[in-house]
Amino acid sequence: MLRILFVASEAHPLIKTGGLGDVAGALPAALQTGGHDVRLLLPGYRGALERAGRLEEVTRLTLPPAATVARLMEGRLPGSQVPVWLADCPAAYDRDGGPYLDPLGHPWEDNAVRFALLARVAAAIALGQAGIAWRPDVVHANDWQTALTPVFMKDAAQRPASVFTVHNLAYQGLFDRTLLGRLGLPESLWSPESLEFHGQLSFIKGGLVYSDMLSTVSPTYAREIRTPDFGCGLDGLLRHRADRLAGILNGIDDSEWDPARDPRIAHHYDCGHIPGKYANKRALQAENSLEENPRAPLLGMVSRLVRQKGIDLVLEAIPHLMQERAQLVFLGSGERSYEDALRSAQRRYPGRIAVRIGFDEGAAHRIESGADMFLMPSRFEPCGLNQLYSLRYGTVPIVRRVGGLADTVVDATAASLQAGTATGIAFDGDSVEALVAALTRALALYADAPAWHRLMVSGMQRDFSWRESARRYADLYREVLQRRE
Ligand code: ADP
Ligand code: GLC
Repeated sequence: MLRILFVASEAHPLIKTGGLGDVAGALPAALQTGGHDVRLLLPGYRGALERAGRLEEVTRLTLPPAATVARLMEGRLPGSQVPVWLADCPAAYDRDGGPYLDPLGHPWEDNAVRFALLARVAAAIALGQAGIAWRPDVVHANDWQTALTPVFMKDAAQRPASVFTVHNLAYQGLFDRTLLGRLGLPESLWSPESLEFHGQLSFIKGGLVYSDMLSTVSPTYAREIRTPDFGCGLDGLLRHRADRLAGILNGIDDSEWDPARDPRIAHHYDCGHIPGKYANKRALQAENSLEENPRAPLLGMVSRLVRQKGIDLVLEAIPHLMQERAQLVFLGSGERSYEDALRSAQRRYPGRIAVRIGFDEGAAHRIESGADMFLMPSRFEPCGLNQLYSLRYGTVPIVRRVGGLADTVVDATAASLQAGTATGIAFDGDSVEALVAALTRALALYADAPAWHRLMVSGMQRDFSWRESARRYADLYREVLQRRE
C-alpha cells in the first residue's frame, strides 16, 4: 500500500472545467480501490466548499512568503470514499467566477499567487510541516497550477517522491519575472535550466525540471511532446528527461459514464440492446429544435471552444455537411469568435444546427447518448475523454490522428472493418479538405446500416475503465520510489 497525495486545481464533481477535472475526480478513487491510501488536495474555491458537504478543519497553516493563513478542511469527494482536503484561503479562492478566469473570462490577475499557495500547502503536507500525522510516500502534482510543488520540496533532507503529470503542455503558467521574489522563490532559480522560460517565470518548468518522474496522458502524446511540432518550446527539456517520462492513458469513470445506468439520460441501453439510443436521439432532436428525422445523421461536439479543438475546421466544413443532410449539435464555451460563429451557423441553418453556449454536464451526457457521431478534429490532444465517452455510448468518433485520439480510436478501413476492430474514423492532416474527406467516409458508412451497427458495437465493447490505468500509475509510483533508493 502506498500513501499518495494527489494535488490538482479541479476535480469532478466539486469543480470542473475540462478533462483534468474528470481525471482528478476518478483516478484517486481507482487508486484507492487498488488498495492505496490516497488524499486529494484542492483549492477551497467557494463552489467547491459549498458542494463538498460536511467538512472539518484538520489544521491551520501559515505559509511563506507572506505568512498567508490557510485552513485545511477535510471531507470526502462526493460519490466516493476518497478523503479530500480543501485549502481554505478566502483571499485566494472565495470569489465569483471560475477557477482560472474571472466572470469576464480573463485570467485572475493573481493566479500566480493563488496557485503558488496551493503548491505551498501541498509541500507543507508532504514534508510533515502541516501539523498532521499523515505523510505521503509520493506527491502527484498535475499541470502548471500545481507544478511548483516539487520546487518547494526540493531542498528538504527527507522528502517524498514526486510525480508530475502533464495534461496539456500548451498551458504553462507563464508570469512576469518580478513574481519570482513575490512568491518567495530564490534568485538562484532564475535560469533557463530552472524556472526561466524566454524571459518569463514558468510554473510548468518547476514540475518538469524538479519532479522525480514525469508522465502525460497518452503514449503518443508522450512521444509528440519531445518534438518541436508539439513541444510548445519545451521539447528540448522533455528530450533531456525522456527516461523519466511515461505515457499513461486516461480512463472512463464508469459510475458517471455508462449508457446502461446514466441518470442524466432518459433511455438506457447497452451494446446488446441499442434501441434506447435511438429514443435518446429523438429526444435530443426535440430538445434542440432539430427536425425529428431518425435517418438524418446527427453529429455532436462537446468542447472547450479553443483552437486546439479544431473548431475552426468544423465551422468551415459546415456547408459540406449541410449538403449531406446531416444535423449538428454543439455544446461549448470559450473564445468569443467561435461562440459567435457557431451562433450565426445556427441562425443560417435552423432545424439543422443547434448550438448551446455554456457549461452543462447534463447536456454533455445527452449529446453523447443521442448523437450518431462525435466530432473531435483536434490539432493536438494529450488524451481526450470525449472520444472515450463516445465509444462507450455507441457514438462513432471522428478524430484527427494525434495524441490520445490516435491511441484510442481504430480507423475504419476495409481491413479493420472486416476484422471487426474498427471503432471510428481517424484522419491525418490539418486541413478542411482532410476533415471533409473523413466526414464523407463516415457518412458513407452510416448509410450502410449493418456495417455502422458493427462499428458502434465494437466501440462500445472496448474497455477504457480506470482499473488498468490506475495500476500503471501505481507501478510508476513504485518505480520512482525504487529509483530513489
Ligand atoms: P479538455 O480537457 O482538453 O477540455 P477532454 O476531452 O479531456 O478535453 O475533456 C473534456 C471534459 O469536459 C469532458 O468531460 C467534457 O464532456 C467536458 N466538457 C467540455 N466542455 C463542456 C461543456 N460546455 N459542457 C459540459 N461539459 C463539457
Ligand atoms: C487536458 C487535455 C485532454 C486530456 C485532459 C485530461 O485538458 O487537453 O486531452 O484528456 O487534460 O488528462
